[in-house]
Amino acid sequence: EYPEYVKIVEVGPRDGLQNEKEMVPTGVKIQLIDMLSETGLPVIEATSFVSSKWVPQMADHTEVLQAIHRSSHVRYPVLTPNMHGFQDAVAAGATEVAVFGSASETFSRKNINCSIDESILRFEEVICTAKQRQIPVRGYVSCALGCPYEGPIESTKVAEVVKRLYELGCYEVSLGDTIGVGTPGSMAKMLHSVMKEVPSSALAVHCHDTYGQALANILIALQMGICTVDSSVAGLGGCPYAQGASGNVSTEDVLYMLHGMGIKTGVDLSKVIEAGDFICKALNRKTNSKVAQARGDY
Ligand code: HMG
Ligand code: MG
Repeated sequence: EYPEYVKIVEVGPRDGLQNEKEMVPTGVKIQLIDMLSETGLPVIEATSFVSSKWVPQMADHTEVLQAIHRSSHVRYPVLTPNMHGFQDAVAAGATEVAVFGSASETFSRKNINCSIDESILRFEEVICTAKQRQIPVRGYVSCALGCPYEGPIESTKVAEVVKRLYELGCYEVSLGDTIGVGTPGSMAKMLHSVMKEVPSSALAVHCHDTYGQALANILIALQMGICTVDSSVAGLGGCPYAQGASGNVSTEDVLYMLHGMGIKTGVDLSKVIEAGDFICKALNRKTNSKVAQARGDY
């Protein structure tokens, strides 16, 4: 039994670009988001308000957020790890934010320079302030299927962190297979634990395709009742604090699979392929999307 509709959360402009070594021109980022805004995607994660010392590629967050042509049909969340980021994001006009924690203690320290417990305290402040301003907050839990430093992560640990974010007020928590090591077996086991604590309607899966398992992992998640999927145009991506993490699952491939199964997304695959073609040309790179490769050049 599959859902009738799946919500796609496009993370390319943020997760896809954050790891690029060369600075991507701000105008390219803006054009990419503007092209994606015309595809029918309901959510486009636009940028992150993190320290530019940590992630130089996202230093132009304010310019990006202010210059994009926002469609009334699209939401544009941005990452905010702490109050500093939250305040900057709101000043730049953000109307939705996301906090990002981890199920791995070591990854938490490497990524956001604090323990899991400390991160929860920071998020609590962000979420409380956001609530007062009626700004919805999404949550992420990284390393849900494995950590680049600690290896396998107990699914009960993942469930505990997801539950804490949900109870603090995140309307949705995205389960990140940050380094793409999961298989349908470990995905099912992890979801089983997490769904004991949080309803499937408040969960998303965020798969990276490092080991070629992303679509299979998404399929099992759909079977288990998940109906929100994060993906990245052209399969761009990687995390600067997760060595060996390859791209996110590509939006084009997810759409092709879902539409082939008769599942609605409201997204126009051809237009996403065009946006993917644009960003790959700008980065001078071949697409990671199998579907875009098969469809050929535009
Ligand atoms: P820190 O150094 O511990 O921060 O970094 P601090 O509070 O000690 O402050 C140090 C300096 O940074 C101060 O400036 C602060 O003002 C400044 P100074 O006094 O030295 O001039 N600062 C900031 N500046 C701009 N924006 C901010 C901010 N906060 C403090 N928000 C911090 C802590 C969280 C800021 C840092 O570790 C950081 O920016 N980390 C970001 C890491 C990141 O972006 N990772 C990638 C995203 S996560 C991901 O990709 C996984 C995901 O996709 C899911 C998955 O795939 O599994 C979500
Ligand atoms: Mg990611």
